[in-house]
Amino acid sequence: MKKLTAKELRNMWIEFYQEKEHALIPSASLVPENDPSVLFTTAGMHPLVPYLLGEKHPCGKRLVDIQKCVRTGDIDEVGDPYHCTFFEMLGNWSLGDYFKKEKIAWSFEFLTSPKYLNIPKEDLAVTVFAGDETAPRDMESFNAWKNCGIPEDKIFFLGKEHNWWILASGVGPCGPDSEMFIDTGKPKCCEECSPACSCGKYVEIGNDVFMEFIKPTKDGKVMPNPQKNVDTGFGFDRLLYISNELESVYDTELFVPVIKKIEELSGVSYNSDDQAKRNMRVIADHIRASVFIICDGVTPLNVGQGYVLRRLLRRAINCASRLGLEGNKLADLVPEVVKVYEEFYPELKEKQNFIMDTVTQESEKFSKTLAQGIKEFEKVAMYCKEGKLSGKTAFRLYDTFGFPFELTKELAEEKGLIVNEEEYQEAFRIHQEKSKANNDKVFKGGLADTGEQTTRLHTAVHILQAALRKIISPDIYQKGSNITSERLRFDFNCDHKLTDEEKQKVEDFVNEVIKQDIPVVCEELTLDQAKEQGALGVFEHKYGDKVKVYTIGDVSKEICGGPHAKSTGELKKFKILKEESSSAGVRRIKAIIETN
Ligand code: ALA
Repeated sequence: MKKLTAKELRNMWIEFYQEKEHALIPSASLVPENDPSVLFTTAGMHPLVPYLLGEKHPCGKRLVDIQKCVRTGDIDEVGDPYHCTFFEMLGNWSLGDYFKKEKIAWSFEFLTSPKYLNIPKEDLAVTVFAGDETAPRDMESFNAWKNCGIPEDKIFFLGKEHNWWILASGVGPCGPDSEMFIDTGKPKCCEECSPACSCGKYVEIGNDVFMEFIKPTKDGKVMPNPQKNVDTGFGFDRLLYISNELESVYDTELFVPVIKKIEELSGVSYNSDDQAKRNMRVIADHIRASVFIICDGVTPLNVGQGYVLRRLLRRAINCASRLGLEGNKLADLVPEVVKVYEEFYPELKEKQNFIMDTVTQESEKFSKTLAQGIKEFEKVAMYCKEGKLSGKTAFRLYDTFGFPFELTKELAEEKGLIVNEEEYQEAFRIHQEKSKANNDKVFKGGLADTGEQTTRLHTAVHILQAALRKIISPDIYQKGSNITSERLRFDFNCDHKLTDEEKQKVEDFVNEVIKQDIPVVCEELTLDQAKEQGALGVFEHKYGDKVKVYTIGDVSKEICGGPHAKSTGELKKFKILKEESSSAGVRRIKAIIETN
């Protein structure tokens, strides 16, 4: 295997696919734009869903990228050698261009060629889809691997639960996949040991998804996708630790400086014991995820993305306290994370102070909550009967005041009380199931929804932005947008609550544009051309070299991925439901269109 630095690995990935005529596109934000179906970008495919469904991508049919992702489904596994809540996905894409044969040959070349990762062929194992009533056994992928020289006993046929990919929302482009694993050489855990089991013999490093199907609705039937796509995702952190033959992702250059800083601040050594090691890994993972999440505009809250961020920071603070490290020291880890990533993500450095302030404020808030929790504990302890503290109470202390169970146990012991741990675990389990379901919550709409209503609402957002700029202030611009199939939500900078008269004027303006039935025209331009023509864009986002610009007469010109209505008349009638504050200096409009 080739020992590579993070920079070398990034460049190697990008150049490998650029040589094969792929255009490099930037990572999209961790917070999905216009997609209420998930809280975070969980996979590289997420921002590209419209293009996997047939929308034309301005950079062509072959793309390469490195996409930031957050997944919290496995948060309890963080601390093992390779689970992380934030990670980067090395991706490449065929949008209706090459398919299985070419893709598998390239994956094999990248993994095994001495010019690239140089992984011995014997160390690889792969899986392919076994077939079921939805789709046939994937013999094409099987044969492609065989042609590369992977022996048949290293190609495993697995069912849908392992070898079928669809977003967590359960709708949109999907299809069979072929996963690639490193066989660590550990003995088989049982006769049937395969990449399907989690014994640690096989570690997944990459996945080629063949998105030849679409699932239009959650309960609907899978249908063939007229456009046959490839979506490849390789875990950057994992490839780095494996190619450097390290013990875990935490031993790579991505984490070492952060762990060192934790050691320095706490005076505890990473290798002192397993518990310390695990705590340090969790802190390092959670602080890295928090840095990227805050940088993409999220602040700690009790709902949505902000809630996930709050949980990450509070878990990190709890782990820090177990090392004797005060929560307010966590902010000192931020510059270490920034240093590791700033070359590739310069925006981190620009926002470093803001990120540090956010982390500090949250840890201050949390210590106040903990202090309140101690008061609450004193109260409940007084009423405990027969020296017992119920597990439900311990869970309430955890849930409401962020009290780690160990703390409750310690405080209880000091008072001669025994906590019902089983009851606590049960309450915890129920809560976890609920929040897992919540994280995967499916709303209607989202990028996978190209239903007519959603498409028209996209157009309504453009006209609304134009109306606000014309009627309220030319300095207004989009701060966020979120569309379901029922309504649109649009956030914009504005220093005052809109008056009834202003709202009416904005609504009338939009309806006038609808009445004129103006065509919505799409052009592909370079970013510079788009800017020159005065196209609006959310310039906090990164764009590729080429962008799509949607123009509505002389009313609106915006950089946008689409899709849009063909002409404004389709929208029939626009109605503002609500105008409210979103955050300091930011207002929010909720609106609908009435097309019946
Ligand atoms: N979308 C695929 C995955 O995340 C590549 O594994």
